[in-house]
Amino acid sequence: MNLQNPHQQRERRSIRSSRDADRARSAVRTGDSAEPTKHGEAMRERLDALAGDAPVLRVDRLIAGYGSKETVSGVDLRLGRGQLLCLLGPNGAGKSTILHAIFGLADIRGGRVEVGGRNVTRLGPNAKLREAGIACVLQGSSLFPDMTVERNLWLGGYLMRDRADARQAAERIFERYPWLASRRNDPARALASGERRLLELARALVMQPRLLLIDEPSMGLGAAFSDRIFEMLHDLRDRDELSILMVEQNAKRALALADIGCVVACGEIAMVGTGAELLGDPAVGRLFLGG
Ligand SMILES: Nc1ncnc2c1ncn2[C@@H]1O[C@H](COP(=O)(O)OP(=O)(O)OP(=O)(O)O)[C@@H](O)[C@H]1O
Ligand SMILES: [Mg+2]
Repeated sequence: MNLQNPHQQRERRSIRSSRDADRARSAVRTGDSAEPTKHGEAMRERLDALAGDAPVLRVDRLIAGYGSKETVSGVDLRLGRGQLLCLLGPNGAGKSTILHAIFGLADIRGGRVEVGGRNVTRLGPNAKLREAGIACVLQGSSLFPDMTVERNLWLGGYLMRDRADARQAAERIFERYPWLASRRNDPARALASGERRLLELARALVMQPRLLLIDEPSMGLGAAFSDRIFEMLHDLRDRDELSILMVEQNAKRALALADIGCVVACGEIAMVGTGAELLGDPAVGRLFLGG
């Protein structure tokens, strides 16, 4: 079952065969044997090469924070269609703030955010979702525990003008994830914590985003549900060519999946490479992989 309507599927097929996507993939593949890149201009060039000519997400010199506190200081990011970029870094490094700023939840003081070539820097979260196709799954549960699974899923389409469209979009999600359909009349609180996380991710798909921001998807979950989350993300990237920007503590697992990895330290990008490069880097191993 595909998430998208026939028109979008046709559009997606033509994009799938586009040279941009091919170039992005080959840039990722050819980078696998190299070292991660660690210095300013070189990191930007590396990101450009990894994401291809027409990145879905382009972030230039982003400066952001909360109120007077600046926690992100000049971050550059690129993400191509159907790619997954993983941000890793120590607690308090600014990873969540980067996601919040891109989605319009943190204050942006400088820099630029482009999605699909459009400047969306100053759009608020509703416009980001409706007009720019950016969906965001934040850290911590955002479900309504007493509402049914079905109603929680409908809420993913709260910005759609017609309620019937939201319900139709939710049905497409139910068709794709039968386990979710089998729980549709249960209150969200009756789901296991891992199932709630999967429902949050499913709800973010109702608006058929082109870019998904997701913060710590496997946090607090056991191995079985972590596997299901990573499988779902893998499938969305590869089958739907969704672009995914993820923050994740399980660095080994995340880098194994990621096309691009970025280490964030003190509000800046400190290292860029393919997931495989970062996995093989001794400093990353020492800091994040327990090796
Ligand atoms: N809502 C907020 N208001 C003010 N400061 C905040 C807020 N959220 C985070 N901060 C501060 O911003 C800095 C960066 O926090 P952020 O949550 O982005 O880090 P992180 O890399 O996601 O950390 P973690 O791995 O713990 O989730 C920290 O110093 C944090 O205390
Ligand atoms: Mg965080």
